[in-house]
Amino acid sequence: MKIARITGKEIFDSRGIPTVMCEMFLDDGTVVTAEVPSGTSKGDHEAVELRDGGSRLFGMGVSKAIHNIDHIIAPELVGKTPDVVIADALMRRIDPTSDKSILGANATLAVSYAVCRAQAAANGLHLFELISALYDTESVSLPFPYFNMVNGGAHADNSFPIQEIMIAPIGAQNFRVGLEAAMEVFHEFQKLLRSKGKSTAVGQEGGCAPTFSSYTEPFDLLTQAIASAGHEGTFVFGIDVAANQLYDKESGLYRWGKEKVTTSDLIGIYTELFNKYSLYSIEDGCSEHDVAGWQSLYAQLGESTQIVGDDLFVTNIEAIARGIENELAGAVIIKPNQVGTVTESLEAIELCHQAGLNPIISHRSGETTDTFIADLAVGASAGQIKAGGCSRGERIAKYNRLLWIEDMLTMSALDDHSETD
Ligand code: PGA
Ligand code: ZN
Repeated sequence: MKIARITGKEIFDSRGIPTVMCEMFLDDGTVVTAEVPSGTSKGDHEAVELRDGGSRLFGMGVSKAIHNIDHIIAPELVGKTPDVVIADALMRRIDPTSDKSILGANATLAVSYAVCRAQAAANGLHLFELISALYDTESVSLPFPYFNMVNGGAHADNSFPIQEIMIAPIGAQNFRVGLEAAMEVFHEFQKLLRSKGKSTAVGQEGGCAPTFSSYTEPFDLLTQAIASAGHEGTFVFGIDVAANQLYDKESGLYRWGKEKVTTSDLIGIYTELFNKYSLYSIEDGCSEHDVAGWQSLYAQLGESTQIVGDDLFVTNIEAIARGIENELAGAVIIKPNQVGTVTESLEAIELCHQAGLNPIISHRSGETTDTFIADLAVGASAGQIKAGGCSRGERIAKYNRLLWIEDMLTMSALDDHSETD
């Protein structure tokens, strides 16, 4: 099977901001599509999202990226067999910049995702099976999910300093059971918020975004909601502080509500949360510009808690390698649009696995209903995923895809078992 046609299209993400879609036609009539996400609180060194500038759509239009798909990338791929390793290498040759600033990472990732889907279709594979073959995974597994319950920071207007509070069903025996429990907690949490006269409206990633009287209040309310849903002992807490957003480079201080705090004050807050609420995972606890802060955070809490780098690493293997060398973190957020191709995302996952760091596949705040990251998490056996809260279709789409994959894997395990009986 050969690629017959590739077109880029401007569509909109879950925030109402333009993003890129790629449509790919194979010569047997197969059509696949791919849509790319976009972040709100970004790392300084993420690959470039090509935007048009000017006045149309606040300068956020993506017609330049679409032009690059239609007129630069497509002519190179049409007539060829869909192969993501070859396609990614070709795009990296056309755009050898370290940040994809020529083609735009929004253009390259849309094509990279679409080629994967076309390659899977051409080989009669599910997408996660193709990724597993590319990654040479020994056996695939469902990821451990972090469900976003509270949105703050740049993802909401509630002035809450922590961008995300998540719960992870560490005690659930499989993905479906964990998801069901999270849904029950979410509804109990909303009921509790309502009873206290608080807003149940959700933020960009589907977690609730009311105002809180203190930074510990949402943890207390969530603990209560978990208990009233009958799931005591099932969940642990994770947070994404997205501390880049709180950091003042000049003074070296962090904004924390109305206060300004030092790195060691901040680590003190995390230690308090860890002691009080068994905090299991802390993402971007320091700014990427506070490397000494990362070192002391990891040294002080890294034994007991998962210390996760997102803006610090931006899915870049050189940044991850520096993090390993300088002992900055124990886990790495993997966001394919931070780097611009599937191949480079797999390289980053591989480096994590080799070095004993935990890769965590992640959505962005600006999402679409594309579920690629669900297949990526399973296919590369990444172990963990962040895909948002228990509301908003673009978040639930990923969880529904994971449910479907889990059912598929369970059915084929049962088939294998009955064949050997
Ligand atoms: P972003 O947020 O997509 O806005 O960057 C997600 C995150 O920080 O993990
Ligand atoms: Zn983050």
